Amino acid sequence: MFGRKIFRYETIGSTNQALRELAQEGAGHGTIVVSKIQTKGKGRMTRTWESPEGGLWMSILLETEENFDNNKFGLIPLMSGCAVATAIMHEYNIEACVKWPNDVLINGKKACGILGELLNTDGKQLAIIGIGINVNNKVQEGYEFSQVSTSVLEETGKKNKLENLEETILQEIKHRIDMLAAGKYDELLDEWRELSGTLGQRVIIAGPKEMFEGLAKDIDENGSLIIEMNDKSTKTVNVGDCTHLD
Ligand code: BTN
Repeated sequence: MFGRKIFRYETIGSTNQALRELAQEGAGHGTIVVSKIQTKGKGRMTRTWESPEGGLWMSILLETEENFDNNKFGLIPLMSGCAVATAIMHEYNIEACVKWPNDVLINGKKACGILGELLNTDGKQLAIIGIGINVNNKVQEGYEFSQVSTSVLEETGKKNKLENLEETILQEIKHRIDMLAAGKYDELLDEWRELSGTLGQRVIIAGPKEMFEGLAKDIDENGSLIIEMNDKSTKTVNVGDCTHLD
């Protein structure tokens, strides 16, 4: 049952890693791990994720349907970003948007990162959604993304209860998981387009094999980003970092 089983820690290495181990021991759909501090928080592209006290660090286990189309895996972090952006707007009455692939921005700066991981145990297809939100913590100074990162505290000047945000995020995620299970892919994609701060922007894409600049035109049916190049040809990107230039 979604959200029924929540494992809470004061300090842990990584909530994604802890949830992976719980899943391997049989934890089911909707199991959640939350920690006040992470000492080995994992970011995308094998980066580390600073996770001091004051942030919301949580991971959610999702079991996909037997007939789930694996090409749609990319929708899971995208819809999670929409859930977080919606929850932030609702809780704090501020604007938030999603940035491709998995970030949530407040005033153009990253306040949340999402790490989606797949795993197979006992023939079950599971996904871990790892959500990291800078809430009451200040962003670490002097690291490569300091200038483009922020926290709710820095944007609103107020400290807030993590419990309320957690609760709202879980409701928002549950709603979108139900939509995913019902095959409402187009609605999920349209919501991402509406909340997107990326579409319509000139961007630099740093993929595993190449780096290029272009105009972010749209996302495709699997959540990959479609970039229009200067010669009007298009490139479709499913992995990489995206920097907004505007
Ligand atoms: C990114 O690089 O933007 C993704 C960051 C994801 C961080 C979260 S914090 C909770 C969960 N546990 C982890 O180890 N990572 C994710």
